[in-house]
Amino acid sequence: MLVLGIETSCDETGVALYDSDQSDQGVNQGLIAQVLHTQVALHQQFGGVVPELASRDHVRYIQGLVQTVMQEGDVEWQDLDGIAYTAGPGLFGALLVGATVARTMAWMLKLPCLGVNHLEGHLLACMLEQEHPTFPFVALLVSGGHTQLIFVKAFGQYECLGQTVDDAAGEAFDKVAKMLGLSYPGGPAVAKLAMQGDPTRFVLPRPMINRPGLDFSFSGLKTAVSQLLSRSDIDPHDQQTKADVARAFEEAVVDSLVKKCMRALQHTRCDKLVLVGGVAANQRLREDIALKTEKIGASVYYPRLSYCTDNGAMIAYAGCQRLLRGERDQGFAIEVRPRWPLEALS
Ligand code: KG4
Ligand code: ZN
Repeated sequence: MLVLGIETSCDETGVALYDSDQSDQGVNQGLIAQVLHTQVALHQQFGGVVPELASRDHVRYIQGLVQTVMQEGDVEWQDLDGIAYTAGPGLFGALLVGATVARTMAWMLKLPCLGVNHLEGHLLACMLEQEHPTFPFVALLVSGGHTQLIFVKAFGQYECLGQTVDDAAGEAFDKVAKMLGLSYPGGPAVAKLAMQGDPTRFVLPRPMINRPGLDFSFSGLKTAVSQLLSRSDIDPHDQQTKADVARAFEEAVVDSLVKKCMRALQHTRCDKLVLVGGVAANQRLREDIALKTEKIGASVYYPRLSYCTDNGAMIAYAGCQRLLRGERDQGFAIEVRPRWPLEALS
């Protein structure tokens, strides 16, 4: 089944073609083509995503991207077997753009169409790699809007083991970046600066780490950074100090995430861990997880960096799996779900 996938939930317009009949072929595992337009430059001047501008930018680029992906994949309209789009969670207006384009095209081409859960897309992005896990596995989903540990028992069977009680890890990276005068998106900028930082100069708290359970909290850590930067004995404008703070912050986030991942593996007696979402691109997190999982004989899987952040490939893949199961949008109403928890899926 050849599926066109469309992602417009936030600040990336992603379009991809996935063919399940080629799913065991080569490094691309059935991914025929994918294109992405990022809005980072557009939102940078505002220090974060401006929803209305995001919607308008999706409108501006989406049709061109669909045409490009069809050309790059050497696919004709009549070759398509279905269309999938992100129906939520995400920004209402941004989601509506992808949903409208997908449903209109599907109607014109008389194809089945399906709204996909963005988080399920992230979870299953690892399946697009040649070396992918088999079910069941534990997934750490860490993005700008979510920080969750999920027990993926089978396709569509997701048990939330723990989640953040306040800020998402990516959100904390973005807020700390602002405090350090770094540009949006903050994660990569903080990580880059932290590379020059001394990990022993400052030690920040690891919220909830000594409490039982698998929930996270990052808002206290953000406050601790702000208090540290306003201490009278440090110069918050000194480049080395900023790097040391970035390093202490990154260490604290990574430590919290890794400890809870290990606890989740123990709790589920599972030996496979998958890291997905934008923060999974973080190099220190990857290194630390690799070290700790190796110690207990567990395997860790990460999608390539371009599948960690938002993309159309994961939506084409997840959509294809559900379309193959016979799921389809019904009626003509175009609906999106800005809030749509993973546990609601089956
Ligand atoms: O999954 P994603 O692209 O978008 C959603 O939130 O759905 O994740 C974006 C988040 C941002 O908060 C960004 O700062 C963070 O991922 N991020 C990183 C890194 N690269 C992206 N955080 C830490 N280290 C990175 N290298
Ligand atoms: Zn995402």
